[in-house]
Amino acid sequence: MPPHAPLPGTHPARNPISDANVAEIARCRQLIDDRLAAIFDDASEPGRLACTIRHGLLSPGKRLRPTITLLACTQNGGDVDVAIDAACAVEMVHAASLIVDDLPAMDDAALRRGAVTTHTVFGEGTTILAAIAMLSEAYALIAASDGLSPERRLRCVKYLSDSVGINGLTGGQERDIMCGCETQGTKSIAEVEQRHREKTGALFSAAAAIGGEAAKADMETIDHLSDYGTRLGLAYQAFDDLIDIQCQPGVTGKDSDQDNGKSTVVSLMGEDTAARTAARYLDQAIKAAEAASHVRPAPLRDLALMIEQKFRTMTK
Ligand code: IPE
Ligand code: IPE
Ligand code: MG
Ligand code: MG
Ligand code: MG
Repeated sequence: MPPHAPLPGTHPARNPISDANVAEIARCRQLIDDRLAAIFDDASEPGRLACTIRHGLLSPGKRLRPTITLLACTQNGGDVDVAIDAACAVEMVHAASLIVDDLPAMDDAALRRGAVTTHTVFGEGTTILAAIAMLSEAYALIAASDGLSPERRLRCVKYLSDSVGINGLTGGQERDIMCGCETQGTKSIAEVEQRHREKTGALFSAAAAIGGEAAKADMETIDHLSDYGTRLGLAYQAFDDLIDIQCQPGVTGKDSDQDNGKSTVVSLMGEDTAARTAARYLDQAIKAAEAASHVRPAPLRDLALMIEQKFRTMTK
């Protein structure tokens, strides 16, 4: 597959990804890794709970959600220094969600980010506590981000807490648990989309809106950013459901066939239609990214294209 090739059914005339944006995205990832390592360094946070947090958080994730926060900020003329702690808070929420998702009571996963899962190393009890601690520390980090005005800081806390709440990640994960259930399980594409919007789209959306707040963006821009996050999250979860059945753990760094028995976009639509649906969400995300940027091409647009490209090389 040549670089930047669109998925089947996508708009054929996409402009190429800008080299400057590729470099900016790599720089964001490095900044996030460095700041997370500094916040949770071994010397200032000793003890088993902190080690468990480090295991879940500092392992080599792609840092997509905090990168969205930083790019949403910079593409609206903001400064990464203002957004970096809020971006790290977003990643902490994500890492907490992953270590819970992997627990035996949830997906019962053995592998995450190319290594054994956190509960396999530290046990289930400490892993649950580490997730709760990371969530709490995430809110504390935003609350202490004094580059943001008190009003904007409060809105960021609200975006993040809504994204975890019952209409967000936890609500979506509950639907996920129930989706194989005969009587209450997901039956329609609309229900799968709702589940994905909550379990994945909500945090992507909060990540983008928080970046907009850090740039002092107006509400119209923040709405476009939030929409970008939702659409990209929907595309992302559809791609993820595709790689669950199409890729081996050696490629993804996590267990495959985890969705066996669940209704997903793939089980309800088939692989080709699921890929086309993901591409349609991605097109919508790109439109929202361009509507919420002072820069052309928008860095968030190119991040979406890079995600598509990565999945494209992993799937058939
Ligand atoms: C995994 O997210 C969970 C999903 C929503 C599919 P990522 O694919 O972003 O995981 P990491 O952070 O890179 O490990
Ligand atoms: C997303 O769903 C999990 C979260 C929202 C935390 P999955 O269960 O498909 O994610 P992976 O495949 O384990 O990363
Ligand atoms: Mg899951
Ligand atoms: Mg899982
Ligand atoms: Mg998955």
